[in-house]
Amino acid sequence: MAIKASFKGLFFMISASLIILRMIFFFVTSISSTSKLITFDQDHHHFDMKPPFDQSTEILINQYDDVIRVLHEEQPLSTSDDGFGDGSNGGGSLPEVASQKGGGENSTANTSQEVVHDGGQLSAGGSAPSEVKPVNVEQAVYHEKDIFLEDYKQMNKTLKIYIYPHAKTDPFANIFLPDNRGSPGGNYASESYFKIALSMSHFVTQDPSKADLFFLPFSIASMRHDKRIGVGGIKDFIKDYIFNISHKYPFWNRTGGADHFYVACHSIGRTAMEKAPEVSINAIQVVCSSSYFLQGYTAHKDASIPQIWPRPGVRPTRHPSKREMLAFYAGAMNSRVRESLVRTWINDSEIGVHQNRLKTPYSESLLGSKFCIHAKGFEVNTARIGDAIYYGCVPVVLADHYDLPFGDVLNWDSFAVVVSTQDIAFLKRILNKIVDSDEYMKLQKNVLQVQKHFQWHQIPVDFDTFYMVMYELWVRRSSVRIHSFN
Ligand SMILES: *[C@@H]1O[C@H](CO)[C@@H](O)[C@H](O)[C@H]1NC(C)=O
Ligand SMILES: *[C@@H]1O[C@H](CO)[C@@H](O)[C@H](O)[C@H]1NC(C)=O
Ligand SMILES: *[C@@H]1O[C@H](CO)[C@@H](O)[C@H](O)[C@H]1NC(C)=O
Ligand SMILES: *[C@@H]1O[C@H](CO)[C@@H](O)[C@H](O)[C@H]1NC(C)=O
Ligand SMILES: *[C@@H]1O[C@H](CO)[C@@H](O)[C@H](O)[C@H]1NC(C)=O
Ligand SMILES: *[C@@H]1O[C@H](CO)[C@@H](O)[C@H](O)[C@H]1NC(C)=O
Repeated sequence: MAIKASFKGLFFMISASLIILRMIFFFVTSISSTSKLITFDQDHHHFDMKPPFDQSTEILINQYDDVIRVLHEEQPLSTSDDGFGDGSNGGGSLPEVASQKGGGENSTANTSQEVVHDGGQLSAGGSAPSEVKPVNVEQAVYHEKDIFLEDYKQMNKTLKIYIYPHAKTDPFANIFLPDNRGSPGGNYASESYFKIALSMSHFVTQDPSKADLFFLPFSIASMRHDKRIGVGGIKDFIKDYIFNISHKYPFWNRTGGADHFYVACHSIGRTAMEKAPEVSINAIQVVCSSSYFLQGYTAHKDASIPQIWPRPGVRPTRHPSKREMLAFYAGAMNSRVRESLVRTWINDSEIGVHQNRLKTPYSESLLGSKFCIHAKGFEVNTARIGDAIYYGCVPVVLADHYDLPFGDVLNWDSFAVVVSTQDIAFLKRILNKIVDSDEYMKLQKNVLQVQKHFQWHQIPVDFDTFYMVMYELWVRRSSVRIHSFN
């Protein structure tokens, strides 16, 4: 028996090491045959960046900025993933690009801020691949639907928020007050949508003694554009702001800020609290940059808000059978994950990876693919996930340890495929297996089911992004206040 067992073990070990050897061989050959691409890339400086016209032009421009930035700024491709632009989707970030050009100037970029986790762990490292597991999509979209619905109702009835008041005449009214001039646009729309929706909602109380939570209404995206503050002044501004409210009002001191929250979608937010550490340590940070490995972000205490482009009008749909491409990815090669992805699949006919110009409109690619890949870039944010969900394309999250939006309510495995960055070489096998086994149909159906959670409205609608964020806040309200009786 023992002999048989050990013989089996030996056999297993031999075949396992054969597989590993073959993998290594595969990596070595695929990488050496694609390494030209990086230098080749340098020749692409003058390609026509004008995106083809499309109803989603804004989005296209957003994608193109991504590429433009890399081509013109010559970001180091592999020394670090960090950079304070949110290269993951780049739009509207020109001020960042400008300050990045300055190089020597003080900037919020600090390469040691983020523990670059995907480096060194990529497939090229020759580590053994994790097994291609069948995806279990039997589970429902929600972890505990009944409990969620019950708790949500309770939240909707009782949650109260106090917003620190600011007069219209406050010199920084533009930073603190909701911006009602037309609909906010672009990458950071989630930040302004939230503030507008909250200030109009039934959650607001004027009576701080009734409040469960206190909202710090500053907008980091607005601070960047305010010449009096600017990128370099954000940290001091926030420090002053916390000083002000903690002296003017008794609320901050009662909990050290633990019943306070702010909302920020710009990636600069992740360093903005450095001079007011109580905020990042105690308060609830509702942010778009939500990785377990961002200094300043604490998973489970803080909450991830999805980065969503405002897209009014009817959501387009397409049946899975009409989605001809297996997978789609577009974006600049600005991180090791993306580099590896592009190098591995650049010539594939089923997985379309694009590091520069798209021949078809972005929306068409998202509608025409079964899976849409979100690969970690300079930044960890979720814009492409929002795009995929909007177009009914099953998101493939290619980044390790994201705190995915609403992950405590939504069962991401039921509508997305989260793939380790180590498994880029197996992507096609993993995805084809899902399609062949019919699991794809379930995933795609579930994507349609969760779409409502990834959508903003001018006037919030139950279970939309606004209400989901309110729910995230509700489950995080837990601080005990110190009362002073003198
Ligand atoms: C992809 O195709 C181009 C052009 O045919 C070729 O030069 C390149 O080596 C190919 N790359 C891979 C990884 O096969
Ligand atoms: C840059 O930062 C250093 C150290 O924090 C500081 O002494 C210096 O004044 C800053 N320079 C500018 C231009 O802000
Ligand atoms: C970057 O962050 C590290 C670690 O937090 C810190 O020691 C260093 O002083 C920072 N550098 C700059 C330029 O801010
Ligand atoms: C939540 O509250 C709003 C405003 O009172 C109400 O219109 C909506 O029906 C409520 N939703 C649920 C699910 O209770
Ligand atoms: C803090 O209060 C002072 C004095 O009222 C004011 O001048 C300053 O603008 C305030 N700062 C912030 C960031 O709110
Ligand atoms: C809050 O605490 C700070 C620091 O201890 C103190 O200076 C401030 O006066 C306190 N605020 C209030 C309103 O008592």
